[in-house]
Amino acid sequence: MKTISISLSPNTEKDDISLAFNLIFKPWKWKRGKEIKDLERMFRNYFGFKNAFSFNSGRSSLISILKAMEIGNADEVIVQAFTCNAAVNPIIYVGAIPIFADIDESLNISAEDVVKKVTNKTKAIMIQHTFGYPANIEEIRKICVANNLYLIEDCAHALGAKYKDSFCGSFGDASFFSFGRDKIISSVYGGMVTVNNEALLEKVSHFQKEINYPSLFWIKQQLLHPILMNKIVLPLYNSKIGRGILKMFLNLNILSKSVTSKENQGKLPSYFPERMPNALAVLAINQFKKLQRFNEHRKEIAQVYNSLLVNKKEFKVVFKKDKDKEVVFLKYPVLNVNPLKIVKEARKKGIYLNDGWFGSVVVPSLTSLENVCYIIGSCPQAEEIVKRIICLPTHINISRNDAKKVFELFN
Ligand SMILES: Cc1ncc(COP(=O)(O)O)c(C=O)c1O
Repeated sequence: MKTISISLSPNTEKDDISLAFNLIFKPWKWKRGKEIKDLERMFRNYFGFKNAFSFNSGRSSLISILKAMEIGNADEVIVQAFTCNAAVNPIIYVGAIPIFADIDESLNISAEDVVKKVTNKTKAIMIQHTFGYPANIEEIRKICVANNLYLIEDCAHALGAKYKDSFCGSFGDASFFSFGRDKIISSVYGGMVTVNNEALLEKVSHFQKEINYPSLFWIKQQLLHPILMNKIVLPLYNSKIGRGILKMFLNLNILSKSVTSKENQGKLPSYFPERMPNALAVLAINQFKKLQRFNEHRKEIAQVYNSLLVNKKEFKVVFKKDKDKEVVFLKYPVLNVNPLKIVKEARKKGIYLNDGWFGSVVVPSLTSLENVCYIIGSCPQAEEIVKRIICLPTHINISRNDAKKVFELFN
């Protein structure tokens, strides 16, 4: 039985595995190499961005932006609730305080609540484009202009999404992307910054040059990920053996975790911030070439869910058509479900829907809300939504038939 999963190396294809396998035997190519600049150039050219700076993650990318903005010292940064601790911890890391604003029905930051959360300590507002659905950028930008605040675009979910015919990432004073394992494209870890505010340009560039490359051990962990996940773990995942092997790989540090237990306590591991290593740039370039195909596929699978859910009025489809927004459907969120129940039922059928994005306003749900400065009750809409949301998979390894199988869970 094929393992249908929303995560577990979702974007990996055969050529990605071969590429990682070949790199394993060439450690001299792991840290420095020409592919880092090649990736940055491809990125600039594809999106028409004036500049691009690579890092080993979205987390490191965000740190570079906050440092360039000289944010720290108990400054406040407004972020949305229903986010990931990976988006919040960099703010705490630089010494600033994340202030949470509530979300609207599209799972993005609510302009109405942002206005209420601005104080004289606020330095920036970060918008998220949750699951690839562009936020109402214009409304938020107006608030930034009126209050002299920086706008940061978190495009971790939105590689290739557009707002009013321009790519997400074009609007922030600075914007960042992620090539993490469950993102639009994946080099297991990786990130990119683009800077639109000239005054920040030199600072981000300087920061990138100052920090280190990750260790060889860390790079090897990431190179092993597409190989071991696809050749050993996934084929066996429907049995206890496969799940046990994955646990063992993680416990023995043979594979990396996407988020560590330290991060659930509001602290970043020592490999953030670091530069993008060449080996992962090689993987990212290969995935970047497939961006359009991946996003076309996601749209097609989203259409399948759309057409099937039309007749299921008890469930609520989140992403509405909007002429100003070109959505990339990193995932397909559905509301009015009991996430734990559906995850459990799905597992019985060999379908793994636990992507961590439910059960807490800062995911994964093991995150200490106190440590990430979330005040219970401050974002009621988000607190309500996380109790009844589930995301369905749309990635390249999900066929239309798989999508129909996933949908059967709603019957
Ligand atoms: C919304 C959001 N922002 C930022 C990040 C951080 O990206 P990365 O995992 O590349 O550090 C993530 C993912 O972890 C995310 O989901």
